[in-house]
Amino acid sequence: MVIQQLRAALGPNSVLEGDAVRERPVSRLIQEGCAAMALVRPRSTEEVATVLRICHAAGQPVVPRAGMTGLVGGTMVGPDEIALSLELMSRIEELDPVAQTITVEAGVPLEAVQTYAADRGFLFPLDIGARGSATIGGNIATNAGGNKVLRYGMTRDMVLGLEAVLPDGTVVSSMFKILKNNTGLDLKQLFIGTEGTLGVVTRAVLRLRSQPSSQQTVLAAFPDFASVAQTLVEMQEKSAGTLSSYEIMWQDYYHLITEPGRRPPPLSRGYPFYALIEWEGADAEGDRQRFEAALEHNLEQGRIIDAVIAQSVAERQNLWRIRDDVHYLKTLDPLFVFDVSLAIPAMEGYVESLRNELTRRFGTATLIAYGHLGDGNLHIAASCGTVADKAVVEQLVYAPLAAMRGSISAEHGIGLDKRKHLPMTRAPEEVALMRTIKRAIDPGNILNPGKIYG
Ligand code: LAC
Ligand code: ZN
Repeated sequence: MVIQQLRAALGPNSVLEGDAVRERPVSRLIQEGCAAMALVRPRSTEEVATVLRICHAAGQPVVPRAGMTGLVGGTMVGPDEIALSLELMSRIEELDPVAQTITVEAGVPLEAVQTYAADRGFLFPLDIGARGSATIGGNIATNAGGNKVLRYGMTRDMVLGLEAVLPDGTVVSSMFKILKNNTGLDLKQLFIGTEGTLGVVTRAVLRLRSQPSSQQTVLAAFPDFASVAQTLVEMQEKSAGTLSSYEIMWQDYYHLITEPGRRPPPLSRGYPFYALIEWEGADAEGDRQRFEAALEHNLEQGRIIDAVIAQSVAERQNLWRIRDDVHYLKTLDPLFVFDVSLAIPAMEGYVESLRNELTRRFGTATLIAYGHLGDGNLHIAASCGTVADKAVVEQLVYAPLAAMRGSISAEHGIGLDKRKHLPMTRAPEEVALMRTIKRAIDPGNILNPGKIYG
């Protein structure tokens, strides 16, 4: 019935069923076929509104999908649900070189926006490993973070205007190009980082920055955590605002990536900590001098004990692959992955006591820690016990965070996988308010039901 209505409204090619749905994977992590009752592909905001109006009237659950690169099951869709894909809405509408904005449809891949902007002398500074597949709509719905948050903030900080469709089909258009707009509730925030539970993002105005003309990239080795943390402070001070990435890797992470047959190690594998550090500026010579002076200072102080500086684009890419080739984590079995945040001074103790707890509990345990140090964001991969031990491992990872005012998710979100843990680092009043907002906007609970507040 609903499917017939959708076919009639959008045309048959926009509504896929059966094998056409099943041949699409659940996500990029899970290769099984998508279970959705149908997959709908609207071509405009108006068509998204039509889909939601029809589904709302019928009480039909709808799950928005984007690039399918999420890590928390935020787009999991069941056989009674309709998947809504914005893959046919991938136009770049306009780049305004004076307002320094780019206006896009939500289905455009992140990398296409980065490239379009770069070709015209601008930087769209959101950058994540999944840039080729992830789309702007998904980035917005998950408030994606990534490798340059330290300098430019999260997706939230790059969205000036937004258009979204509410669960009942109402279009809310706030397509502003302005940075300042203190006129009551900032409604676009309802749709940023709420994982498609309050509305479907259809278009956005994104803030651009100037394209940096110089890049300084180094992989550095450190004797201890305190030196990694202090060098971050020094780099922030000495980089004249150009420090854009500061990615920490514990030795176990470096070992995993540089095992024989994987990536060649640019530095000896014997150091306790590594960091990939990047500055992006507009004064090549001055930046280089400041960069080398900062490195030398930290080397003299004994904080950095070895370093390799990228001398070419290819060398830079090779250094970044040490950080970005996280797919080698999949060689661990079982594999439990986490994305927590906590204040930098608490990090080392947290990782060490987690390592001890896991080893005590399981006899042997592998704990691999890395992440965006400047953002207080640790990615943790643990391998111990069997898949059946997931809940035990989760408890050990999450339990210490509340007392540290940390978070069970720094950037990957809650989705389906972490919803029962949401109260661990959000107060009961906060969770209750989230549910009040969800009920007010989606009383029929048809939009991405069961996710986040579940
Ligand atoms: C990363 C992803 C997993 O930073 O967030 O590698
Ligand atoms: Zn990350």
